[in-house]
Amino acid sequence: MKQVKTIQEMRAARRGLPAPGFVPTMGFLHEGHLSLIRRAKAECGSVVVSIFVNPTQFGVNEDLSRYPRDAAHDLALLAGVEADVVFMPTAEEIYPQGFATSIDVGPVAEPLEGAMRPGHFSGVATVVTKLLNIVQPERAYFGQKDAQQCVVIRRVVADLNIPVEVVIGDTVRNPDGLALSSRNSYLTDEERRRATALSRALATARQMVEGGEHRASVLKDAMRDILSSEEGFSVDYISVADPVALNEVESVGVEVLVSMAVRVGTVRLIDNALIRGS
Ligand code: PAJ
Repeated sequence: MKQVKTIQEMRAARRGLPAPGFVPTMGFLHEGHLSLIRRAKAECGSVVVSIFVNPTQFGVNEDLSRYPRDAAHDLALLAGVEADVVFMPTAEEIYPQGFATSIDVGPVAEPLEGAMRPGHFSGVATVVTKLLNIVQPERAYFGQKDAQQCVVIRRVVADLNIPVEVVIGDTVRNPDGLALSSRNSYLTDEERRRATALSRALATARQMVEGGEHRASVLKDAMRDILSSEEGFSVDYISVADPVALNEVESVGVEVLVSMAVRVGTVRLIDNALIRGS
């Protein structure tokens, strides 16, 4: 496994790689990341993984300075899944003096996470575009865990004619339903137990739709009841939206994206499910 830090080294390494797949990450890797890397490994000729905690996607009051990092552990995990190249640039390498361009994604970046985290998706879109231009993969892999991020990246890749195939991997969960996230490491044991309410709320919505309930407001009320019965929970949003345009819908059509963001103590968690209505 080759480790590279500069853009020049990455470009040189790329020249020797057959049909690369690419998995961008912010490190502190877990099974969610590894599932994407394994899939890329199975579907592509080689795999590049980036580890870069991108400062421009964090708001001023967010967790950039305390975002968990463990490069040694990450490198051991990446060797285990046989990544071919690991790109670990510094912030100065990605954002040198004079850097000024950013991508404004438009309406799909506005609701949900975009409304709670101004500038977040501009930061994501800009860094992912830069990484795709540097690595030039044939396929790029993202997790359904960050549903709106997937929609934003599909939009950017289509709108800017970036020559890459976007592949979305399923959300990997703990056996109790909690979606894996680097930010779960902030939770106390008690918060960790309560955090299963997010996946329970999604499972309830799915069961209700299967049972014939199609009214979004009724689904949202049921999910809110489950979440607000947990002590210390504060719901940022519960959404039932069109999975491509991300606008709220009144009733469940062919498919909806059900998503939520919840503060558990000081930790902000998101989760979602794509639910078919018919
Ligand atoms: P990060 O949070 O490290 O996630 C890297 C990739 O792993 C993303 O595509 C994310 O959706 C996916 N992922 C995270 N948890 C997952 C889970 N439980 N199951 C499946 N996939 C999961 O997302 C980012 O980094 C950044 O925004 C990035 C795209 C790297 C741009 O900076």
